[in-house]
Amino acid sequence: MMLLGRAVGSRLFPHAFIAFFGGLGAGKTTMTKGIAAALGIDGILSPTFTIVRRHEGTLALDHFDAYRIEDADELTAIGYDDYLAGDGVIVMEWCENVPDALPEKRLEIHIKGSGSDPREITFRSFGEEYDALLEEVLC
Ligand SMILES: Nc1ncnc2c1ncn2[C@@H]1O[C@H](COP(=O)(O)OP(=O)(O)OP(=O)(O)O)[C@@H](O)[C@H]1O
Ligand SMILES: [Mg+2]
Repeated sequence: MMLLGRAVGSRLFPHAFIAFFGGLGAGKTTMTKGIAAALGIDGILSPTFTIVRRHEGTLALDHFDAYRIEDADELTAIGYDDYLAGDGVIVMEWCENVPDALPEKRLEIHIKGSGSDPREITFRSFGEEYDALLEEVLC
């Protein structure tokens, strides 16, 4: 998870959006730590109660956790549009809760499995930059 995260993180660019899907304990935060490490960021937590944490690195990383969010309006209320307009990277866990809030261009990472199960990871790119990113990560 860390290595895959690093592979993605090392290819990110300003305004990149990574949308995680997957249930409890799937490994979303673990992969986020790998992404963050590639940006020189340590100290990623599981922000279930916080919704968003900002980290400064070679790019800023805004780490959202939508576990407790019910719809896009709740994100708007905490200034989501400003985060989207920023120069950093956004990583969001629990995107299944806010499908309408995702930008058109994004990389989706779907993780199935938890505990000691093997994980099934599906990447989906939306937009040319993300198609290229995925090709680099997977080739
Ligand atoms: N590929 C994996 N194989 C086995 N265990 C893993 C794997 N990835 C993560 N884990 C472990 O599963 C636990 C939960 O991982 P993590 O916190 O990253 O999940 P999450 O998807 O963010 O969960 P949450 O829904 O609580 O946000 C951690 O103890 C982590 O070490
Ligand atoms: Mg998590």
